[in-house]
Amino acid sequence: MPDCPDIRVRPVDASLRPALLDLVVHEAQYDFVGHIAASLADAAMCEGSEAMAILREGEPIGFYRLEHHPRSIADMTFERTTVGLRSFFIDARWQGQGLGTRALAVAMADLSRRHPQVRDVVLTVNLRNTSAIALYRHAGFREAAGLYHGGRSGPQYVMLCALPP
Ligand SMILES: CC(C)(COP(=O)(O)OP(=O)(O)OC[C@H]1O[C@@H](n2cnc3c(N)ncnc32)[C@H](O)[C@@H]1OP(=O)(O)O)[C@@H](O)C(=O)NCCC(=O)NCCS
Repeated sequence: MPDCPDIRVRPVDASLRPALLDLVVHEAQYDFVGHIAASLADAAMCEGSEAMAILREGEPIGFYRLEHHPRSIADMTFERTTVGLRSFFIDARWQGQGLGTRALAVAMADLSRRHPQVRDVVLTVNLRNTSAIALYRHAGFREAAGLYHGGRSGPQYVMLCALPP
């Protein structure tokens, strides 16, 4: 197994779907993300939602969505061009190996490259989701003022990260 595996991200297409549908998180983590089949179906229906695969050595190990209408994330408005990050996860079999940290850095670089007009990234994360909070802080996200009380699993931080100009 490579020490520093190749991590890439790619918009989801039909060739990636079967392997993506096999991805899971630990049962308790479904408080924080939906099942991938539902996320893919929802992304396909939502204008401005971009479904993205996280690939390790070319094979899907994770998923996230970019929301180009960020108001759908926390019902907030933004002065600068902002994209929402949603449903970010690493398959349960691949967690705890630093791959989420690397994948998030690759996802942010991909976002800057493909959407250079975007200035900020916003997300919400449940207060109980300590590993995700650590991941996002490590990547440069910071909590905005106030909590978001939407969603089904309790209060969430709203976190923002500026992209390099
Ligand atoms: C959050 C998630 C993406 C992290 O992926 P990962 O590959 O395990 O992350 P890493 O191995 O790169 O570790 C990231 C951070 O989480 C911490 N972490 C990892 N596993 C952990 C665990 N079981 N308990 C507590 N902290 C943990 C690491 O210590 C690291 O923090 P650090 O940088 O301060 O050391 C993954 O746990 C996941 O998919 N969770 C379920 C979905 C989810 O909650 N997504 C976020 C929605 S907002």
